[in-house]
Amino acid sequence: MVDRRIPNLHDLAPLMQFKRPTFDLKAKRLREALTIEDLRRIAKRRTPTAAFDYTDGSAEAEISLRRARQAFRDVQFNPAILHDVATVDTGWDVLGKRVEQPFGIAPTGFTRMMQTEGEKAGAAAAAAAGIPFSLSTMGTASVEDVAEAAPDGRNWFQLYMWKDRDRSMALVDRAAAAGFDTLLVTVDVPVAGARLRDSRNGMTIPPSLTPKTIIDALPRPWWWVDFLTTEPLAFASLDRWSGTVAELLNTMFDPTVTYDDLAWIKSQWPGKLVVKGVQTVDDARRVTDLGVDALILSNHGGRQLDRAPIPFHLLPDVVREVGGDTEVHLDTGIMSGADIVAAVALGARFTLIGRAYLYGLMAGGREGVDRAIEILSVEIARTMRLLGVNSLDELEPKHVTQLERLVPRVRG
Ligand SMILES: Cc1cc2nc3c(=O)[nH]c(=O)nc-3n(C[C@H](O)[C@H](O)[C@H](O)COP(=O)(O)O)c2cc1C
Repeated sequence: MVDRRIPNLHDLAPLMQFKRPTFDLKAKRLREALTIEDLRRIAKRRTPTAAFDYTDGSAEAEISLRRARQAFRDVQFNPAILHDVATVDTGWDVLGKRVEQPFGIAPTGFTRMMQTEGEKAGAAAAAAAGIPFSLSTMGTASVEDVAEAAPDGRNWFQLYMWKDRDRSMALVDRAAAAGFDTLLVTVDVPVAGARLRDSRNGMTIPPSLTPKTIIDALPRPWWWVDFLTTEPLAFASLDRWSGTVAELLNTMFDPTVTYDDLAWIKSQWPGKLVVKGVQTVDDARRVTDLGVDALILSNHGGRQLDRAPIPFHLLPDVVREVGGDTEVHLDTGIMSGADIVAAVALGARFTLIGRAYLYGLMAGGREGVDRAIEILSVEIARTMRLLGVNSLDELEPKHVTQLERLVPRVRG
């Protein structure tokens, strides 16, 4: 038998939680995004299809990216119980200086096309979070602008070696003069990957107004207001360009670059040198023997070779081969802080986020990037605590089992 009674207003009052209406819709939208995937959904709603697809898409059948993300989802964590995890430290030294988180922002081209605040928002948000920001050769803010947006930040410059060596190195000299302490040399773009979404969308730089793009713009007026009322989109470091991305890459980039060129760049650059886009154990060994300060296991977010090696699967072998001699970093497919913890447990010293940052940028400019960094940081700290560790040093391979659905066939 249940005793029933007339509800009493006095008892109900504390249960009623009507929130004050908020007029800051951006803050509300970002607060309600709990994961990077949530930010992606907001980004998709607010960004014209061509710009969103340029960011979200990858090469050919997009297998490289799907597999890389799946590999992270196929992680089993093995927690240790009954540890005092009241405090947790998510930072350590990367390339000789402390980072507050084991991730930084990857170099991305054309960033102001996704959202007009672009690289300056990324650099300022990274500086505020105590993590590095990387500026691409194809950036839409200059090295000087980025240095000004994040004077206390740790800024890295990414180089695509282009056919005109003198001009490439002039750009590198500008980066050094603006205080950039690390050079990432990207080596996985001898030619442009086949980004089919861009071809299908007729994506051009800058975006062109066609009947299709105008119709697509109608539900996204704020993107266009931003775009049309701010500084025109241009490469900050390159000449003006009009044409497709693939045409630009193929015209500019040098398919003849070899190990000798890498050694030459190393001899020219006074700071830390990192090679981005290593995809086999053999190449990891070769670049390490050249004396680089770190290598990044990456398949460019799946935007170049499709069906490429999965960086996260390659990690244990590469760490075993060269981990004692150089830092091993990793990117491609990171969508949560747990992905980053798994990579650190298997020996990565650092990771980079490309799309996770850009989804935040498209969802809400600078505040959106802050939110993306916050989501990942909170996930990292919580995962570490749940694993029973207080610091990144305590993360070990035993904390992770890679459940492999794609196991290479062993011949003969
Ligand atoms: C829109 C976009 C533009 C990119 N542009 C560059 C670039 O100019 N230079 C470069 O080295 N990598 C570039 N990348 C690759 C990223 O640096 C990084 O390797 C990749 O995004 C990591 O994968 P994730 O997006 O899954 O995090 C770009 C990636 C994206 C998504």
